[in-house]
Amino acid sequence: MFSNTTYINRRQELKKKIGSGIVILPGNSEAAMNYAGNGYAFRQDSSFIYYVGLNMPDLVYLLDIDNDREYLFGDELTIDDVIWMGSLPSLKERAEKAGINTVESSTQLPKYISGALKSKRKIHYLKPYRYRNKLFLSELFGKSPQEISESFSLDMTSAVIAMRLIKSEEELRELADAGRIGYAMHIVAMKMCQPGALERDVAGTIEGLAISAGNGVSFPTILSMNGQTLHNHDHSGTLETGRLMLCDAGAENLNHYASDFTRTTAVGGKYTARQTAIHNIVLSAVNESISMARPGVTYKSVHRNAYRIIFEGLREIGLTCGNTEDALTAGAPALFMPHGLGHAIGLDVHDMENLGETSVGYDETTKRETMFGYRSLRFGKRLEPGHVLTVEPGVYFIPQLIDKWKAEGICKEFINFDRLETYRDFGGIRIEDNIAITEKGARLVYEKRLPITVEEITEVVSV
Ligand code: GLY
Ligand code: MN
Repeated sequence: MFSNTTYINRRQELKKKIGSGIVILPGNSEAAMNYAGNGYAFRQDSSFIYYVGLNMPDLVYLLDIDNDREYLFGDELTIDDVIWMGSLPSLKERAEKAGINTVESSTQLPKYISGALKSKRKIHYLKPYRYRNKLFLSELFGKSPQEISESFSLDMTSAVIAMRLIKSEEELRELADAGRIGYAMHIVAMKMCQPGALERDVAGTIEGLAISAGNGVSFPTILSMNGQTLHNHDHSGTLETGRLMLCDAGAENLNHYASDFTRTTAVGGKYTARQTAIHNIVLSAVNESISMARPGVTYKSVHRNAYRIIFEGLREIGLTCGNTEDALTAGAPALFMPHGLGHAIGLDVHDMENLGETSVGYDETTKRETMFGYRSLRFGKRLEPGHVLTVEPGVYFIPQLIDKWKAEGICKEFINFDRLETYRDFGGIRIEDNIAITEKGARLVYEKRLPITVEEITEVVSV
């Protein structure tokens, strides 16, 4: 947790941005896995972490903007809790860490809210994404869960997005720390990428590293020889010579910031000529995207430029053909990369996706596209200093998608379907780094970049 001035300042800014009414921000509760006493690892709500910083269940922060008062609602531990979990700081002591002076028992909250509702005061809350918080707000406000989901505060949502999107120096240090753990995970994955190794062994080992160095993985690890399946959580394969292992994995550090890297390693470190050629195209797309990213440029245009590099690179090896601009307008590169170039990253790996992906990644001047491929870009708007994003182009050969496009004649003037047949079992290559937008350009979030060229990766695998 940062010093309490960080949280005090953030809440001051939130207050200014929203202007009037009451803000209620419930933290998360424990979530049962197979019964209440056997829960998933506790994960605090990211906006609660951002404004309050406290990593304990069942807390509610309330800000009365009109009367300039704030409260932390919660409950002191009972003797039974202490027997089970040991002694923990009192609620008052925790509130001080967050710079909040008034603590109240959770039993007081309904009274407070019903008073506010009677006086018809505006109460702001974010759209809940956990059923428990939806039901909690439903009971508190006497509205159906459906109404609760629909009547969240747009003002609060846009204020939170605007604030959380711009990372401070202390946040950038945390992101670099998450990157440090991600680095260690990927180096181990590369070293383990040997013929006969089990995917689940590699995935389990690096997830263990994320647990020992931080709060575990920032999302379920994607690790597979079937890299053409974008979110492949199946780790049942045995690594084979001649194939590629796509590893998309990252860590959450102890202060809850995420990293998200992808490297695609040839099993045993031996890239074939075909694999090297595709790898180099994707690598150019990563590096050129980082060079292009700067304040004032839309990420949508960086995505389109990555499509250009991929289309032209594939044209050189005979998989695509025709005029680049026409192909980009027709969406032809989406056959090979049906996902977006990247997303914001911060306290969430897809930062604030719970607040609405389009609300986070687009605005009045930059609208989301509807065309296949382009529409999957999660973050498209104009870049600003302090934005932190992933850059993750890829080239995939998805047999079912190739068959569909071929059968329907989609973009047939730009794709050499005959030649493509010989790539059906290639798999896929993705390369992903995390960048911070600076005043003049973009930089990697961390000091040490993971090995990224075919030569660099081969060297790690061979050691
Ligand atoms: N690295 C997983 C994702 O971006 O969805
Ligand atoms: Mn990602």
